[in-house]
Amino acid sequence: MREPFFYDITLRDGNQSLKKPWQLSEKCLIFDKLRELNVQAVEVGFPASSHMDFEACKTLADKAWNNLVVSALARTVQKDIDSAVLAIGHAQIPRIHVFLTLSPFHMKYVLNKDPNYCAHTAIEAVKYAYESAKKTNKNAQIQFSVEHFGDCENNIDFVVDTLKQIVKSGASVINLPNTVERKRPRVFINLVEKVIDALGNDVVISMHNHNDLGMATATTVEGYFSGVTQLECCLNGLGERAGNTDFAQVAVALYNSGVSVPVNLDKIYETAITISQMSKVPIYEKAPLVGPEALAHRSGIHQDGAIKTKDMEFGAYRPIRPSLIGRDDDEKIGFTSQSGKSAVYEIINNAGYPITLDEAVRLTPVVKEISEQKGELGADEILNVYFDKILNIEGAFELISFRHESSDKFRLEFKFKNEYKEAFGRGNGPLDACLDALKNAGFERKLSFYKQYALDEDKFGSGASAMSVINLIGHNGEEIIGRAIDKNTAKANVKAIFNALNQLYK
Ligand code: KIV
Ligand code: ZN
Repeated sequence: MREPFFYDITLRDGNQSLKKPWQLSEKCLIFDKLRELNVQAVEVGFPASSHMDFEACKTLADKAWNNLVVSALARTVQKDIDSAVLAIGHAQIPRIHVFLTLSPFHMKYVLNKDPNYCAHTAIEAVKYAYESAKKTNKNAQIQFSVEHFGDCENNIDFVVDTLKQIVKSGASVINLPNTVERKRPRVFINLVEKVIDALGNDVVISMHNHNDLGMATATTVEGYFSGVTQLECCLNGLGERAGNTDFAQVAVALYNSGVSVPVNLDKIYETAITISQMSKVPIYEKAPLVGPEALAHRSGIHQDGAIKTKDMEFGAYRPIRPSLIGRDDDEKIGFTSQSGKSAVYEIINNAGYPITLDEAVRLTPVVKEISEQKGELGADEILNVYFDKILNIEGAFELISFRHESSDKFRLEFKFKNEYKEAFGRGNGPLDACLDALKNAGFERKLSFYKQYALDEDKFGSGASAMSVINLIGHNGEEIIGRAIDKNTAKANVKAIFNALNQLYK
């Protein structure tokens, strides 16, 4: 399958739509980003539009890397073409991009010219551009765009005939813009296919889709599969009105469709952030692929699927592995009243605290209820519930104090059902000694698991530096998980035993 040819228009169509078009230094920075992405062509600007843009085009033509096509826009007037040739003619592969409308509506109501006049103007302009660009640089190429090609349904035969002559006059690329997206993709692609059928063997066919109805990516991707080779795209979908076709979306959609995409996909995410900062056009929260929310899951069903497939290449609820575009592989699990136990389990586990699925099931209704009032809960808020519900379990036992009175005498004071008790035990450390004292007081329990975790003091205050997890065997042989946190590691152990006992004796 042929490779798509990515023609980037961020520095021209994107730039012309900005509230503050870029200065030379900014254009240079973006040009470097385009190099990192490895696009095949860059439309560097519209030299006749301003002195600043002329200078920028000239500088970027100097900065072009090997084999890059450097393009500059020109209307079908000599002064624009001269300016474009002067600005970029010295590039390794300069391309003069001449455009004129052939749409019946536009010719009549905007230009106030008849079709034959427009056809003649376009043909002559391409001839002129070809001759003067070739005089400057034998590698020069000419691209012709039919502005408002999408509005040419009623005169498509005339457009095709004109394009044939334009190709004879020297254009090697015919660009077909959907200058204003008015209809569904298939209607536009039908028109494009008429041009491909007539000219497809002689020239490169290109597409330039605006996004007025939000279907520019779909049109461009399907256009490629209909035979279009050059895809005109804009970083972050910048461009006039609702923008142009989004570069990242097209590149990734083609990649996902099995096409060999000649761009460095892993640069997409960082480039999107840079472009957003430089254009002052924020990335929409829900923007596909690069939006802050594009990897967030809040419904319990989606969270469950996302968590189960998070380490897999193919994810249950994502189109790509985020690292494909240089994004961290961390699908966000946000907890709301719509979320479920998998989220509770994952959030607490990710924060570094032990939790079982059963405990997550127990906590879920509690956090859901809080979330019904507050909306999305942060990890800290969920952890607070975890500490509250898992650590502060009320029951029949109440620890009063404990002390090692000598190396083999451990004294434990506690209340059981409000009755004061004093017990003594022996053991290697407070854990063994405490269990021994409890046995002597008539509460024998077997230990099946013990682990102590260091806690983040910043999060839980200086009163909490260790968490003990102590599993005791319950009345029917089941495992009871006891947990406690304390600054004092011995106290964390004893409190954890009482936490487990309180689950056994309510
Ligand atoms: O949208 C458009 O028609 C254009 C042309 C100049 C290619 O930007
Ligand atoms: Zn455009």
